[in-house]
Amino acid sequence: MVRDMVEANVSSQTPPPMPKIPRQIPKWEDLKPLLGFRKFQLDGTERRLSRAVSIEDLRLLARRRTPRSAFDYTDGAADHEASLRRSRELFNNVEFRANVLRDISTVDLSTTILGGPSTRPFGFAPTGFTRMMQYQGEVAVAHEANTAGIPYALSTMGTTSLEDVAKLTPDTQRWFQLYVWKERVGTKELVERASANGYGALLLTVDTAVAGQRQRDVRNGLTIPPQLTPKTFFDMSLHPAWWANLLTTAPLEFASLRQSGGTVAGMINRMFDPTLTFDDVEWLRGIWPGKLVVKGIQSVEDGKQAIAAGADAVLLSNHGGRQLDRGRPPLRLLPEMREALGPDAQIMIDGGIMNGGDIVAAIALGADFALVGRAYLYGLMAGGYRGVRRTIDILTAEVTRTMQLLGVGKVADLDPRHVVLP
Ligand SMILES: Cc1cc2nc3c(=O)[nH]c(=O)nc-3n(C[C@H](O)[C@H](O)[C@H](O)COP(=O)(O)O)c2cc1C
Repeated sequence: MVRDMVEANVSSQTPPPMPKIPRQIPKWEDLKPLLGFRKFQLDGTERRLSRAVSIEDLRLLARRRTPRSAFDYTDGAADHEASLRRSRELFNNVEFRANVLRDISTVDLSTTILGGPSTRPFGFAPTGFTRMMQYQGEVAVAHEANTAGIPYALSTMGTTSLEDVAKLTPDTQRWFQLYVWKERVGTKELVERASANGYGALLLTVDTAVAGQRQRDVRNGLTIPPQLTPKTFFDMSLHPAWWANLLTTAPLEFASLRQSGGTVAGMINRMFDPTLTFDDVEWLRGIWPGKLVVKGIQSVEDGKQAIAAGADAVLLSNHGGRQLDRGRPPLRLLPEMREALGPDAQIMIDGGIMNGGDIVAAIALGADFALVGRAYLYGLMAGGYRGVRRTIDILTAEVTRTMQLLGVGKVADLDPRHVVLP
């Protein structure tokens, strides 16, 4: 009955009429500021890069512009690629705990790593065959790292010489990544060349006792340098610019290795020394005057042993998932490692970083510095040196914004309170 009364009441009232919205003829002065025609960018690379707002966008651009075997070599990982997937998932699943009402009008991204400065809390990891991804290769990467003031680590498997990269990096930290060869005389010579050319740190990679099985490379029949087969000729028609650049610049070969040719896995197994132990870390400590970093640490006990053997820092890494599949994500290991090594030990991390927020999470959880590999290679493949610059810009903006939204103004103020690791 009450309902009937309410309904009767409601229906008996006539609603007031809706006020009229006045209409007018649009005036040019009102329209002008709304017109969204931007000046058409004639330079295609510039146009594409400016539209890329994330590292994933650069990755998609890279995939379009690069022959499949070279793209897959970069993008792929070992076996079922679970290590890489899990590293990326763990970064994505991190929960930030923000503080608000802090003055974050200025943010200082600069930091110190291995005794030298870096304008940002990240640098470029060593990657082999960089000229295979895009003809500008290490020259573009070193040039952009130098311009930005971030460290760059040249790989033993690099396709540009130690000397040339040294000339390109006068204003920033230059590091050299070392694989120890079966032939120790050659290894020692390389270490001496790195020292003579002002490389401040040696990154000894220890996760490559044998080659990981990168299934995409096997399926694609990837060889270094790429072979000219009927498949390659077909590919040329799809990526003419890439092939033209490859064939009209210096032959694609390793700058520091005497051996070349065949598959990557074949070369690793032929050349790298599987007998390597912590005694060799001590041996290197004895012959290398600069900072020594052990790259590829995947357990707390190995981290402690590396420091005991004379390393200045450990780099938590599973080679971007390219070696042991189903390896633990380095981010998972990080808090345990910090706890075990104490506040003064230098800990770096890499693997799966696709966003500046990932870098912020790693620093907050105890890393002193992060390295990115694929992120800059995607940029390189997407647009040469300008693509590498775009990678730096995207990551820088993301790190800055994440820190501001977390209420943190300095890299040193990031701490574990800011992150919940699932
Ligand atoms: C194409 C490619 C080549 C690489 N070559 C080397 C190398 O020559 N030496 C080395 O120590 N690590 C090498 N790495 C591993 C990187 O240094 C780094 O650990 C890894 O890329 C980090 O993961 P992310 O690519 O997800 O950032 C390579 C990685 C990629 C993607």
